[in-house]
Amino acid sequence: MLMPIRTLGDPVLKTPCHPVTVFDDALKRLAQDMLETMYDAPGVGLAAPQVGLSKRLFVFDDGAGGPLFMANPEVTGREGEIIEDEGCLSIPGPFHPTPRSATVVCRGQDLDGAWYELPAEGLLARIFQHETDHLDGMLYIDRLDEQGRRSVLADLRRFELGLEEPRKKRGFLRGEVE
Ligand code: NI
Repeated sequence: MLMPIRTLGDPVLKTPCHPVTVFDDALKRLAQDMLETMYDAPGVGLAAPQVGLSKRLFVFDDGAGGPLFMANPEVTGREGEIIEDEGCLSIPGPFHPTPRSATVVCRGQDLDGAWYELPAEGLLARIFQHETDHLDGMLYIDRLDEQGRRSVLADLRRFELGLEEPRKKRGFLRGEVE
């Protein structure tokens, strides 16, 4: 079932999420619905607050590891810095160069509550940092300087007014993975 995606201005996106404590069939159905919604958008990651739920979980697919779910994620082992275009399904349209750690390790729980960890670089490292930020009530524009934020919001306005087509085929966290 497709779920409506919350967009910038919705307070749920600015609210830190509660830990996931129950790993039951309802959680599995939610993960399925979120994956369906993510692929439909299309995107490569979707966090619970983006569908209105203040829970520490997200789904993702970097195009290499298949569809995955992670609850209660912790990002550690940050190394290096890399600046690449980033976007968000909750800020549909714009992309902006955004600084992130180049490599990370992300540890969290699967749908059965079992802990696992994944070392990540490139797209997957960016997904982990972007989605974990969502669970802390942060958006990628909060990682930009004032000029960057203003640029994204101006782009967003142009998309909303229909002056530009959203870039569906390019970039990151929205559109096809290159
Ligand atoms: Ni996002």
